[in-house]
Amino acid sequence: MRTLISGGTVLSSTGAHQADVLVDGETIAAVTAPGVFGADVKGTVDSVLDATGKYVMPGGIDAHTHMEMPFGGAFSHDTFATGTTAAAWGGTTTIIDFAVQKKGTSLLSTLDTWHGKADGNCAIDYGFHMIVSDVNDTSLKEMETCIDGGVTSFKMFMAYPGVFYSTDGEILRAMHKARETGSTIMMHAENGIAIDELAAQAVAEGRTDPVQHGLTRPPELEGEATSRAIALAKVTGSPLYIVHLSAAQALAEVAQARDTGQNVFAETCPQYLYLSIEDMAKPGFEGAKYVASPPLRDKSHQADLWRGLRTNDLSVVSTDHCPFCFKDQKELGRADFRAIPNGMPGVEHRMDLLHQGVVAGEISLARWVEACSTTPARMFGLYPRKGVIAPGSDADVVIYDPAARQTLSAETHHMNVDYSAYEGFELTGRVETVLSRGSIVVSADGFTGSTGHGRFLSRDLCQYLN
Ligand code: URP
Ligand code: ZN
Ligand code: ZN
Ligand code: ZN
Repeated sequence: MRTLISGGTVLSSTGAHQADVLVDGETIAAVTAPGVFGADVKGTVDSVLDATGKYVMPGGIDAHTHMEMPFGGAFSHDTFATGTTAAAWGGTTTIIDFAVQKKGTSLLSTLDTWHGKADGNCAIDYGFHMIVSDVNDTSLKEMETCIDGGVTSFKMFMAYPGVFYSTDGEILRAMHKARETGSTIMMHAENGIAIDELAAQAVAEGRTDPVQHGLTRPPELEGEATSRAIALAKVTGSPLYIVHLSAAQALAEVAQARDTGQNVFAETCPQYLYLSIEDMAKPGFEGAKYVASPPLRDKSHQADLWRGLRTNDLSVVSTDHCPFCFKDQKELGRADFRAIPNGMPGVEHRMDLLHQGVVAGEISLARWVEACSTTPARMFGLYPRKGVIAPGSDADVVIYDPAARQTLSAETHHMNVDYSAYEGFELTGRVETVLSRGSIVVSADGFTGSTGHGRFLSRDLCQYLN
């Protein structure tokens, strides 16, 4: 299969230029000045896609998703099949999902289980991070085998005591191993011990509605945990990647560490850029739709997060896609907000929502591509196979119409969840065509991919450090 994408504006992390792109099989064969390919080449391709007036960009890489994740007494409602299909609709061609170690089980059996869930079921390529919730001699040793198997990053939790929580000592031990192996520790930085106490007090006082989830997880406790994680990383010499950063206090800690030359990186998510604690305060249990951790913050944090994206103190945007249905899953916490499964849907809308940042003048086109594709590729060892339109790279390509209009709604989205966190949002720009390794998977004809197409990506170490 050979495809010529002609007349478009090719985007990269450094800018935009007019170019034609020739795709041969699964990879990009050439990127040339417009019109260089004449009738001779056009005669040899199977199809020509006219991208006049459109962006031609590397497919999105969502480095933080949770498909069919067991959590809070429920399973996140997208399977690898439905979630990766929804991702493709939104111009994301790679996800990195989390294998979840349960206390008392091994990392290697966990990884086997997650391969079993995903293999043969994904519409786009996928990799795994490993959630480490049981730090002991065996699991520390198994980190090495995970790395050999292409799982080069490990998420730990300072939140959720009794579930995923690790003590500072356990974090220190895992960071030593990360330092030794060149792998990356990803941190859920919220002070879970203090939060659980605040939540228990709220319930004891009869405050049980969804907004209490936000009020009992104040931004100071994200700032404090972020500061502590940075200190532990400094002491051990381990690099650190803060996941789903939501609060100005946490951003300030990351910025300060980076200013002093420490290898600290952070991601934020669209929900923290566009939604707020006011959504969690909606009446009639509606707020449960927005319960995730860290929680949505006061609107005043949003300007700081956009600034962080411009200054690269926030270098990645991922979704933390973890959808639970409003009707039969969020319902679990109607009497007590602590039982609301934590997480929100979003894998389909990240590229479009961040494009609004371009439209509004918050970030440049190059920064959009960098934060949503190129940097996650480099951060998690996938570059230049992914994250760039260049000869030899996988032909994961999105043709994006920057002028199209769309309205987000649960009626029309493809995620397997019964509500949209962005219901009624009117957006400028939309995905027109998506290629995954050279195959057209989304176009005007709809979804034309297949859920067996996606392949497991064995990842290298972080390419900013190794
Ligand atoms: O509420 C959230 N974020 N759910 C997913 C698990 C996590 O902590 O990332
Ligand atoms: Zn987390
Ligand atoms: Zn997450
Ligand atoms: Zn259901």
